Amino acid sequence: MAVRQITEYPEKILATRGEAVTKFGEELENLCAEMFETMYAAEGVGLAAQQIGLSLRLFVMDCEGVKLIAANPEIIHKEGEQSGQEGCLSVGKVPAVVVRAERATLRAQDIKGEWFECEANGYAARCFQHETDHCNGKLFIDHLPKMRRDMLVKKFQKEKRQR
Ligand code: NI
Repeated sequence: MAVRQITEYPEKILATRGEAVTKFGEELENLCAEMFETMYAAEGVGLAAQQIGLSLRLFVMDCEGVKLIAANPEIIHKEGEQSGQEGCLSVGKVPAVVVRAERATLRAQDIKGEWFECEANGYAARCFQHETDHCNGKLFIDHLPKMRRDMLVKKFQKEKRQR
């Protein structure tokens, strides 16, 4: 197992919808183990395959007690509204307030290919939405008005220079 390098904005793969996961088995298990390791090393709560340079509809998360692997994820139900801080490992964790659904139901395949549904609220529901967006080639900054998005990108570029 190894910690992978995190792909950062504006890499094209982050803006591209991933390919469907079709092979379940040992290789996928190893990949997910590496994704968890990479996510924990970066102190994140979720990580999508695009963030390590793989065009796959796959994410891992461990957020407020919800730890799971989601292949081919979809949000099948959304309810209510929450407004809160959000950041992304691919955008240097520079935070912004993003409006999301307060409650969300995720439908996805687990590591063995079995379909499951999982319902969450609050921060875990925010994570479902953020990571499913990644699989569809969408970043959280795409939810921001242009001016706020431009400001955030500038902050990120500055953060990157100072590393
Ligand atoms: Ni992210």
